[in-house]
Amino acid sequence: MKNNLWYKDAVFYEISVRAFKDSNGDGNGDLRGVTQKLDYLQNLGVDCIWIMPIYPSPLKDDGYDIADYYSVDKAFGSLDDLKELICAAHEHDIRIVMDLVLNHTSDEHPWFQASRSDRNSPYRDYYVWSDTDQKYTDTRIIFVDTEPSNWTWDEKTGQYYWHRFYASQPDLNFDNPKVQEEMLNVARFWLDLGIDGFRADAVPYLIEREGTNCENLPETHVYLKKLRSFMDEHYPGRILLCEANQYPEDVRPYFGDGDEFHMGFHFPIMPRIYMALKKGRYEDMAEIMRRTPPIPENCQWCTFLRNHDELTLEMVTEEERQWMWKQYAPEPRMKLNLGIRRRLAPLLDNDRRKIELANSLLFTLPGSPIIYYGDEIGMGDNIDLPDRNGVRTPMQWDDSLNAGFSNGKPFSEFAREREELGYQFINVANQVNDPDSLFRSIKRMIAIRKKHAAFGGSSMEWIDAGNPAVAVYIRQYHNDTMLILNNLSASTETIILPAEYQKAYLDLFAGHTQTLAETLTLPPYSYLWLQMLK
Ligand code: GLC
Repeated sequence: MKNNLWYKDAVFYEISVRAFKDSNGDGNGDLRGVTQKLDYLQNLGVDCIWIMPIYPSPLKDDGYDIADYYSVDKAFGSLDDLKELICAAHEHDIRIVMDLVLNHTSDEHPWFQASRSDRNSPYRDYYVWSDTDQKYTDTRIIFVDTEPSNWTWDEKTGQYYWHRFYASQPDLNFDNPKVQEEMLNVARFWLDLGIDGFRADAVPYLIEREGTNCENLPETHVYLKKLRSFMDEHYPGRILLCEANQYPEDVRPYFGDGDEFHMGFHFPIMPRIYMALKKGRYEDMAEIMRRTPPIPENCQWCTFLRNHDELTLEMVTEEERQWMWKQYAPEPRMKLNLGIRRRLAPLLDNDRRKIELANSLLFTLPGSPIIYYGDEIGMGDNIDLPDRNGVRTPMQWDDSLNAGFSNGKPFSEFAREREELGYQFINVANQVNDPDSLFRSIKRMIAIRKKHAAFGGSSMEWIDAGNPAVAVYIRQYHNDTMLILNNLSASTETIILPAEYQKAYLDLFAGHTQTLAETLTLPPYSYLWLQMLK
């Protein structure tokens, strides 16, 4: 585990600890449960897991509202359980990153309790207070379905406090050097415990300035660079992954000169993959990739199809958003804020061809891919559950009572929106040994990806093959060159290959050599990964 650039060609896997595996029958998934399932993750080919927040929390935002940065919520286990998980993961050649929530705490955090108790409290300045709610009025509201304002009135001390998310998540004041210091201490604590890095939550919003939209401000970058240099100095090889839901040109500064974040999510490509699949055209994807600036050599994008939040439509135009809602959220309750609260398989009509094709794109676009737990088996969702809980239902291990997730009463209902995606039909036990399963297809994609440096590289060249329905591109690193073809349409499509690509290739899935002629025909929703032979 020595290579400090390991993240550049790693395959990531996001886990909701609460929903993954319950080891003690209390109905909640826990850290020991994750440890028990490391063989499964290793078998799939995962290099790094990202665990969602495990800190003590009143759970108004599923743990992203932290009440204590220095321990593990009892429901998930203990600090010792985490140490054991980290050790066991490393024995499986798997790294672990966790959420670091810098921007805000829970309103139940002792800092906020003190801050709101008295205007003269030494903690008053840990948060952002104001006499008026007419400050920073150019700032958008993120949770538009529930929050009327970014300010909430505090009766006792007669001022408003600032929050970019739920009112129960007051924003920390990063203009206060003490807050900056506190959060470095938090990072140090978990790094000392052995964690391999952080997915840094909601970083664009750390600093507020009048007359701006209070996002991506220079002072925010100054602090993040401090955090990075602290990590480089004391914990080389550990990473920072940036959650900045922004257009690529606005994410670009978060990489700095290779001295800020190691990785950043590529938010805008995600909805465009769904647009491409529905329209049967790749243009929107190509356009956003062309708009994606180069990043420093020691940095990497992080790509995903789904995560624990709603499928965000913040990084599309208003017209595109309406179109996406129409296509993918036919029932009003499928919408949430500016997004869609559904999982991959139901979004893609549980159509195996479309699910595989989406994964083919995920695993061949520039960036390191993240799989959202359960999507590798095509798990469903449960839109009867509120907020984003419907995409955080328990992992489906087998068809026994409670899906092999828990011997007790599970904390949540299971996925059931489409009965055929319920655990009686979709589960790990059914799929791991079935060579024709989705799990096995994903596992194969991962295995192939890991053998070829081209996928972790940064180069990507779109090829005009005369057919807007087929995404054709070259991925290359040194002399490893891949020609990737994805037919996004429901019909058989023919492409015309430019002369320079009419060559011999190794078909990485079929395992045989194939010489491409000028025209090539692809079945509906099919994909080919071809390695150019010299
Ligand atoms: C991030 C998380 C989301 C959470 C929010 C506030 O966007 O992904 O789940 O609600 O931050 O912490």
